[in-house]
Amino acid sequence: MTEKTYGGITPHSVKDLPQTKASQSKFSQKQKKEDSLESETSDIDIEKLKQAGEITKKVKAFAREIIKPGVPLLEIANKIDDKIIELGGKPAFPINLSINEIAAHSTPSFNDTEKAHGLLKFDVGVHVDGFVADTAFSIDLENSQENKILIEAAEAGLKAAMEKIRFGSELRNIGEAIEKEIKKRGAQPIVNLSGHSINRYILHSGITIPNYNNSQTYELEEGIYAVEPFATSGAGKVKDGKPSGIYHLENNLPVRDQFAREVLNFIKEEYSTLPFCSRWLVKKFGSRALIALKRLEEVHILHHYPQLIEIDRKPVAQAEHTVILTQKEKIVTT
Ligand code: CO
Repeated sequence: MTEKTYGGITPHSVKDLPQTKASQSKFSQKQKKEDSLESETSDIDIEKLKQAGEITKKVKAFAREIIKPGVPLLEIANKIDDKIIELGGKPAFPINLSINEIAAHSTPSFNDTEKAHGLLKFDVGVHVDGFVADTAFSIDLENSQENKILIEAAEAGLKAAMEKIRFGSELRNIGEAIEKEIKKRGAQPIVNLSGHSINRYILHSGITIPNYNNSQTYELEEGIYAVEPFATSGAGKVKDGKPSGIYHLENNLPVRDQFAREVLNFIKEEYSTLPFCSRWLVKKFGSRALIALKRLEEVHILHHYPQLIEIDRKPVAQAEHTVILTQKEKIVTT
């Protein structure tokens, strides 16, 4: 799942987040680092990250079997949710099934009737105990030459970036590798969408990986990174569209309404600081969950992601992998 950005590095703070599994683990990480000068990767569980990655591989193969033109997106989403659980993981965010000019952040609502068509982006996240794998591919469901070129451009951009990325890579060089492959095919990278660093229970943890040469000389440290090029035949920029029904916990503030509090407690327990969607909450609480979500959004406890739309309303393709970087190693988990 992507991040809309205009810069290279965005500050990230967890100080306002609740004392859930996520912030506790982050805290212990900081303590450990200060006390013993151990690297941050000492708190990264590589086995669990690999396990999450293996699950995404199986889920992607399953998705390629079930995604056909005309299949309801809601049916696909439910099958993917079930598959992830069946394979021993949990969704790290709601499956993104974004079509044509919608670049990202589209997931079916509980009563969705839309069917698979066009240029469909399949962006899936799995976590095992908070350790996340984030990966995506695109599929052409209308036998369009334009779509096929965009998919090839995004895939080639990803391949070049995965070859380039390592401990100490400059952000601009990764972006440049992506930009070159996409432009070579007559397409444009989306410049205000980017990859991102990942921490335990935190999908976007502060570093953004550009999809073009943004002149940032920041050098990558050890960590987990999602690289996700987007290629389009439009101008190469997205704007906010309608609300997606995807949320994440943003501020830990008190809430008076008893039912809203019940929903919030479930969110904290079940998703921690990872994104979730209204579909899942309607499944748990019925349609009155939607009222609670609205209330929690109004008081800024929840952030509601907008859909992201290409400004020329041209089709967009996406490809994504998650990689672990250590000083010695590069492990692509997905
Ligand atoms: Co991502």
